[in-house]
Amino acid sequence: MDETLPSFPLARRSAFDPPAEYSAAEKVQKVRLYDGRSAWLVVGYDEVREVLSHPAVSADRRREAFPFSSPSREALERADPSFVTFDGPDHARIRRVFTRYFAVRRIQALRPVVRGIVDDLIDELLASGPPADFVRSFAAEVPARTICHFLGLPLAERGIFQELDARRNLLATAPGDVRSATGLMLDLTKRLIESKRTDPGDDLVSELVHGEAAEVLTPEELLHALRLVITAGHETTSNMISLGLVTLLRHHDQWQDLIMEPALVPGAVEELLRYVSIFHISPTRLAVESFQLGGTRIEAGDGLIPVSAGANRDPDAFADPDRFDIRRGTRHHVAFGHGIHHCLGQSLARLELVVVLEQLISRLPGLRLAVPPEELRVSEYSFLKLEELPVSWSTT
Ligand code: HEM
Repeated sequence: MDETLPSFPLARRSAFDPPAEYSAAEKVQKVRLYDGRSAWLVVGYDEVREVLSHPAVSADRRREAFPFSSPSREALERADPSFVTFDGPDHARIRRVFTRYFAVRRIQALRPVVRGIVDDLIDELLASGPPADFVRSFAAEVPARTICHFLGLPLAERGIFQELDARRNLLATAPGDVRSATGLMLDLTKRLIESKRTDPGDDLVSELVHGEAAEVLTPEELLHALRLVITAGHETTSNMISLGLVTLLRHHDQWQDLIMEPALVPGAVEELLRYVSIFHISPTRLAVESFQLGGTRIEAGDGLIPVSAGANRDPDAFADPDRFDIRRGTRHHVAFGHGIHHCLGQSLARLELVVVLEQLISRLPGLRLAVPPEELRVSEYSFLKLEELPVSWSTT
């Protein structure tokens, strides 16, 4: 074990800025993992994209030498083998079954549903009056209700998302607890599949269990893939909504610009995705053959940590990268990853974020933080996460 190496995860510069090492001139650096192994931390934009799409790099957690960033992440990913943890033909075969349901046109058709969900939540906020905890009463609810609708999961089951968020902190939770939380999620997914088998509705899971999926996927593959789809879209989107709002309110002139010019919303969403980069612990990879990454020789068996938060603040890819600017006009960030595992749900995430901003600026333009931003507690979870976001608003 090389004790002189910095230990991963590294400390952030601030709740809103990634670790200083991510902006270093050295775009590939060695770090030490919790188990004493070393791994390559990849922070440059080009280098991150290269790692995420290189044929000599594997995402397959079934490989003995695969590097993990914490014991609980290892427990989760080994106990719950979904297609995000596979390579090549296995990954392609399973992902392909889901692709059509996430096509942009199909997701855009959900706009009225998402709009209804967001409007109901704003009605509830207005009815109860300020102050409110924006995380609990809004940010966590938008993706939970959207996914329930999309998959045909009864709305009453959505409490499980909050429970999982609390129980699966992959940095701090004991591996046994992670496994039991994952067990809960798999039980819920099994119940969902069974109920749609006997009582189908107009939803994705019903289509899957009665359609092609049943022929192409084993029951185990369908179970783990659906579990992934249910959870991948919740924490990520919920944290993006709450941290996105804080970012805009901390740059109040730009919040005002959005109110005056709502056409800026889609660009603001892209800039929020880049600037916030909610993955505190990016998914790891394993080199299965040696290759050259810029000036660094990567050997077969080396661990790799391609960090989107570094790539998204790389000055070679984004001018003045620490500046938040909703008029930046770039969409080439890697907040949704890159390569074969790039986010399957990105159209849905974008739709939710756009509708949320459109409705907040039009119906709650007087929204403000009810505490100074420095008092907000941003947990360095697998994702950056606000535990609570006290907000208030003026109605005039
Ligand atoms: C994969 C980010 C929302 C479903 C990914 C990856 C990233 C990501 C970075 C790549 C992981 C890797 O390379 O190992 C995000 C962010 C979101 C978001 C920032 C919200 C702002 C969603 C939503 C869904 C979803 C709403 C679905 C409902 C998935 C799935 C994968 C994935 C299924 C695995 C794809 C594969 O392995 O082929 N996401 N995601 N995500 N995401 Fe998202």
